[in-house]
Amino acid sequence: MRRKLLFGNWKMNKTQAESKEFAKESIELRKFALANDIDIGVAPVYLSLETVRKANPDLIVAAQNCHFADHGAFTGEISIPMLLELGVNWVIIGHSERRSYYAETNESCNKKLLALEANKMTPIYCVGETLEQFEAGKTKEVIKAQTLEGLNGLGKEFVSNMVIAYEPVWSIGTGKNASKEIAEDICGYIRELVHELYGDAADKVRILYGGSVKPENVHDYLTQPNVDGALVGGASLKVDSFRQLIENMIK
Ligand code: PGA
Repeated sequence: MRRKLLFGNWKMNKTQAESKEFAKESIELRKFALANDIDIGVAPVYLSLETVRKANPDLIVAAQNCHFADHGAFTGEISIPMLLELGVNWVIIGHSERRSYYAETNESCNKKLLALEANKMTPIYCVGETLEQFEAGKTKEVIKAQTLEGLNGLGKEFVSNMVIAYEPVWSIGTGKNASKEIAEDICGYIRELVHELYGDAADKVRILYGGSVKPENVHDYLTQPNVDGALVGGASLKVDSFRQLIENMIK
């Protein structure tokens, strides 16, 4: 049985003070989620990672990105050993905003995933098609390439414990969330791909839907057999909304 997972991707939002306030307010929330078999986590900006971890040590905390090299001449980047030093061992990889604004490719994501495996960390690997690709009926083709190229060379154990997030680019921050049928179809397809490559690791890997998830629609996604939770941007920023997301996941 896969545990449900709710993850907030804060993107470039919240100062350290605001992050700390959320983390403190989420202490009870985390207990409530855990009592209902739901794991919860957030991905603040790098500067707030330690702040959040200290304010609520039980909350899962992820970085929004990392470099694949341990150190070197990569201005503006952050490495895995630097995250580990802060006690951060989850990282979001290949978010569509990273892919479109910062030229992340399946190949660069793969390098990062391999580096995370070597450091026994947990990735949330994001995949998803653009509106143009969706309208051209190319969704599965795109998802297949992102999944196979991203996971290339990873071991079964690592894949069993990783998280994959299906986030159609056309649904992110647009208010146009994908239907639960689309989410189930693509999350199920990703599971099939993992099954072809890794056998029963497919039963363990957690696959999330992301893209305009809100308290009002989160329940619909969670009723789908292949959707194990949600990666949420806008609706994860306020504690009240985050609480409602959890409550509605349980219903
Ligand atoms: P959104 O973002 O919930 O604001 O659409 C989701 C994401 O980018 O992970």
